[in-house]
Amino acid sequence: MRISTELAKAINDQISYEASSTQAYVAIGSWCERTGYNGAATFFFEQAAEENTHMLKFVHYLNNAGAEAIIPATEKPKGNFDSLESTFQAGLKSEQTVTKLINNLVEIAEREKDRATYSFLQWFVSEQIEEETLFGTILQKFEIIGRDKLAIYQIDQSLASIRSEIMAKGDSQQPPAN
Ligand SMILES: [Fe+2]
Ligand SMILES: [Fe+2]
Repeated sequence: MRISTELAKAINDQISYEASSTQAYVAIGSWCERTGYNGAATFFFEQAAEENTHMLKFVHYLNNAGAEAIIPATEKPKGNFDSLESTFQAGLKSEQTVTKLINNLVEIAEREKDRATYSFLQWFVSEQIEEETLFGTILQKFEIIGRDKLAIYQIDQSLASIRSEIMAKGDSQQPPAN
């Protein structure tokens, strides 16, 4: 096994959190769908699929490092929300927690001088910047566009494609490749 017991345990905890995030976002998407927020439902179901790929990245990493990835049971996620805005507040809060957890994994890898795991984790460090930016940008829309029925309708309409729009903007800020 080319990973320490401590780091394998911490990554298994992360697998558990990514699995819970997957279910939490499915539950939010489901609430949006039955409430008539179809753009947001699309957004959250895609978000859930992304969290599932995060979980699998950690599963593959542990298994390929000769450790055992533990596939966890998850608790029943919150299934009802007060408003569309509160679903994104819940999302941002969860992403901020994940950022802390990833930073903690990076610290363990640094302390153990485990360069392979440190390097593997860098993708997640960047991913968390994107995730927090994405949720922050969406929450800003409520400040800018408003919270009356028409504003909420417009925000919901914009959510189905917002991920690709924000990511494309992020790419254009990179210096051009030569
Ligand atoms: Fe994630
Ligand atoms: Fe995430």
